[in-house]
Amino acid sequence: MSKISSNKENFVVPLLLPKRLAAIQRVLLRWYAEKGRDLPWRHTRDPYKVLVSEIMLQQTQVDRVIPKYQAFLKAFPTVEKLARARRSRVIQCWAGLGYNRRAVYLHEAAKKVLRDFDGVMPITIDALRTLPGVGDYTAGAVAAFTGGSKTAFLDTNIKRVLGRLFFNTKKKRLPAEKKLAEYAQSLVPTKKDEAYFWHHAHMDLGALVCTAAKPKCETCPLKRVCPFPLFRDTIKKSHYAKPQPTFKNSDRFWRGRILDAVRRKKRGVTLGYLKSILVIPPTRAEKITQGLIRDGLVVRIGSTLSLPE
Ligand code: ADE
Repeated sequence: MSKISSNKENFVVPLLLPKRLAAIQRVLLRWYAEKGRDLPWRHTRDPYKVLVSEIMLQQTQVDRVIPKYQAFLKAFPTVEKLARARRSRVIQCWAGLGYNRRAVYLHEAAKKVLRDFDGVMPITIDALRTLPGVGDYTAGAVAAFTGGSKTAFLDTNIKRVLGRLFFNTKKKRLPAEKKLAEYAQSLVPTKKDEAYFWHHAHMDLGALVCTAAKPKCETCPLKRVCPFPLFRDTIKKSHYAKPQPTFKNSDRFWRGRILDAVRRKKRGVTLGYLKSILVIPPTRAEKITQGLIRDGLVVRIGSTLSLPE
């Protein structure tokens, strides 16, 4: 274990000495070369394909994304093809991924690229941020995996790794994003190619080893420099593994069911039919349907609901 200093906030702040920093980078990059995940979107630096992957990965697990990513790119191989596609086809192609609003955002983003960027996908964080559905994380990831940006970005996995490595606090919350971002940035190697692999490595460590429940500290490549094993028994599980709200019977669940029913019928479904197949009160079904219409996923003509053209 390298030197660690305690401060009065009950944080344990590792001293980021250059040697220690270099050790963290070296060890994690070596681990990634051996154990990192071989994922389809890591074989391309095409910003359109990387954007598709990152939007899909925002709220969906890697295993579920892989076949959907491949099918989506087969259907819409370029940003131009996507921009010119019918909305209904894009929504059909999104089936099985959930959080369907992302399909609308992605379609809108492609149209914006055609309209405002002459059809050339942007690769800087600032330009990417102007696209619908692209927040700080997605912009940072796309810029890093295409244009070689060295700017760190934070997702849940990365935040958890940083929290355990640098902020082993018993307090309920992790430090503010700004502080985590500073730590994340201080770890990014300055060499361009190393930075590219670093972002993947950091992500994979969180997904494979430094998991929310049952982290595998014994086999962690950073075990010699991470204080977490000393603390893990004193930290409540809920600190890192937040209980997820039940999906069954949630509005999101019924949103998915309604949209699936509309997807299945090319000519659309009547509100009466929908209400007959849903075991929720009609007023709730109506409210959820209104949300789908507002989000551009469904259109209503008279009493018939269908996918937008
Ligand atoms: N989650 C979000 N982005 C990812 C990526 N590029 N690879 C694996 N998991 C991810």
